[in-house]
Amino acid sequence: MRQYDILTLFPGFFQGPLSESILKRAQQRGFAQITVHDLRSYAHDRHAIVDDRPYGGGAGMVLKPEPILEAVANLRLEQETHLVLLTPQGRPFKQAIAQELVEHHHLLLVCGRYEGFDERVRALLAPDEISIGDYVLTGGELPALVLLDAVIRLIPGVLGDEESARYDSFVDTLLDFPHYTRPQSVKGLAVPDVLLSGDHERIRRWRRKEALRRTQVRRPDLLQQAELDEEDRQLLTEIDAEEENG
Ligand code: ADE
Repeated sequence: MRQYDILTLFPGFFQGPLSESILKRAQQRGFAQITVHDLRSYAHDRHAIVDDRPYGGGAGMVLKPEPILEAVANLRLEQETHLVLLTPQGRPFKQAIAQELVEHHHLLLVCGRYEGFDERVRALLAPDEISIGDYVLTGGELPALVLLDAVIRLIPGVLGDEESARYDSFVDTLLDFPHYTRPQSVKGLAVPDVLLSGDHERIRRWRRKEALRRTQVRRPDLLQQAELDEEDRQLLTEIDAEEENG
């Protein structure tokens, strides 16, 4: 069973998200053990102080190093712990990083707050630092949940249908193709005929083509990086011709 420990000043943040849907089921079925730890319990002065004013002056508070160092020393397991700080200065989170992290059997996720960590936490612990995007949140709690959600769904067996993970957006760096379910017609909009044809080869080709079309329109940057084969290039030629003919 994979083990995920979260170190935070706001343990309550995690109650709802971890007790719903797939994350709840993954825990119940023994795929993941998730434990939330209160950073404040590692502060030993009378007022359990975890932050302090920055040397050099300026606005905001900085997380003190000692509670984090003690907590990490306590929660670290022999060898296998992969330590992650959630911070806007980290490497940008991507599906490829989720795939990398699911290989670790123990993640220790440390959530920042305020102006962030005392720099010596980085120097002493050499953590993996991850950002979930180029915007600043009030703390690392939501990023930790985003990361856990993306990682846990990749644990083999967690998703009922293995296929649904394999064909996702970003697995091969294309966006997903359009999906339809019943009814066949909604406010005059019909499901594309090919999906009703029962012809699996035509359906596969249509889906690949629409994934390429959507990626070209919405995320040309992803299309640049994608590994395209002969069929993909043929489909893109067809798409170009269709766009030209309106
Ligand atoms: N803490 C605050 N903002 C963050 C972000 N975008 N990613 C990770 N941790 C953060």
